[in-house]
Amino acid sequence: MAGIMDVSYDTQIPNNIGLSSDRRVLKALEKWHPGYIDWWKGSGPDGFLEDLVYLRTAVSVDPKGWAKFDYVKMPDYRWGILLAPQVEGRIIPCGQHLGEPAWQEVPGEYRSLMRRLIVIQGDTEPASVEQQRFLGKTAPSLYDMRNLFQVNVEEGRHLWAMVYLLQKYFGADGREEANELLKRQSGSEEKPRMLGAFNEETPDWLSFFMFTYFTDRDGKMQLEALAQSGFDPLSRTCRFMLTEEAHHMFVGETGVGRTIQRTCEAMNAAGITDPYDIDKIRALGVIDLPTIRKKMNLHYTLSLDLFGREVSTNAANAFNAGIKGRYQEVKIDDDHQLQDATYAVSEFTGGQILVKDVPALTAINMRLRDDYSRDAAGGVKRWNAIIKKHGIDFALELPHEGFHRKIGVFEGAPITPDGLVITSDEWAARRDEWLPSKADGDFIQSLMVAVHGPGEYAGWIAPPRVGIDNKPGDYEYVKLYMA
Ligand SMILES: [Fe+2]
Ligand SMILES: [Fe+2]
Repeated sequence: MAGIMDVSYDTQIPNNIGLSSDRRVLKALEKWHPGYIDWWKGSGPDGFLEDLVYLRTAVSVDPKGWAKFDYVKMPDYRWGILLAPQVEGRIIPCGQHLGEPAWQEVPGEYRSLMRRLIVIQGDTEPASVEQQRFLGKTAPSLYDMRNLFQVNVEEGRHLWAMVYLLQKYFGADGREEANELLKRQSGSEEKPRMLGAFNEETPDWLSFFMFTYFTDRDGKMQLEALAQSGFDPLSRTCRFMLTEEAHHMFVGETGVGRTIQRTCEAMNAAGITDPYDIDKIRALGVIDLPTIRKKMNLHYTLSLDLFGREVSTNAANAFNAGIKGRYQEVKIDDDHQLQDATYAVSEFTGGQILVKDVPALTAINMRLRDDYSRDAAGGVKRWNAIIKKHGIDFALELPHEGFHRKIGVFEGAPITPDGLVITSDEWAARRDEWLPSKADGDFIQSLMVAVHGPGEYAGWIAPPRVGIDNKPGDYEYVKLYMA
């Protein structure tokens, strides 16, 4: 029996929004679709268009059983438009419209602010697919290859989700923005993606795992904040996207964890106890822990920059308007308007790191970033537990907020991962102690060889503890097409 949570297949585009009876939007999406497929073929995973990948596809928005697994050729993936069920009587949870019924249409006065937020979110989705374009060729196993492609097709679906909102609620400007989302390119000189971290390279699999752990987690926090929006269709869209997003961070956390585990196992087997005995460790064909720390430092700090300036009037306006809430807004015990509240924000003045209280309304970005850092620390703790279990004296720790920043109060400040202020010359001289050097990158690159046998793994990474969809260890997650 089909319920409201089920997806309808009566158009080319699977959906639970009654698309077949919304001719205007259906036409706009159908017009956009061929350009999307061209983008996928030209900017999505390089090669592998003919291969059968064991992918999950959303077939419902029921949290208990929303996905089905099957072999699919990626260009045939059914990218759909899925909104979490409408909550009866939902109210605007924050800002000056607090308590009013959630909007089902965009209020005219907030149109451009809302459009901008949707475009910025939308821009990150295809960007990450572009960044990961070449990784399939060096997948350390079919399991990992499948996970990469799963993340890629879902980021593609997230682009559809944002394009739907633009086409449904923003008329001609929305259609224009939807087209632009297919024209910008990650890393392009002329037409780059909108945010810095999404123009960086993802050159190897350790970067991919760090990216899905740290940068997809920024995505999670942004979606959490937009899920609190007074604009109900945006809230419902983001709520369903979050269901998919959890797997992306799982791929990141377990990918880094398996890399660490393999390194520790190899060190133990070779009787190496000093984690800084780098040449000997690398000779074992695994990535030394100090280099893993550098990769973590890089991806974490690039992700912190995504939260924008610590003190921001735009963020205050979005909160005040009820367009974007805080993380778990409805669970916070305060006035939800931040009339007199303050929030502690760091400052960097005269070479000193100071903390001062500012109006909480202006520190919305900072608060979300703090929530993010707490969330990100959980996995780091679990990575350290793996190292400890192998009896190795080494620990990972997220660097100080002032380290290696390009946005906000610490922009360009010469601060170490421990939070010490040093001179710019010293910082430049010591950079390679803290961030991956060219040589580190070359070494990691040398380990990136494709492993295609079912159940086989590259030597630098441990197999997962359980398979996807409870499949056995030697499951053929990708059936490679042999020309
Ligand atoms: Fe996404
Ligand atoms: Fe994601």
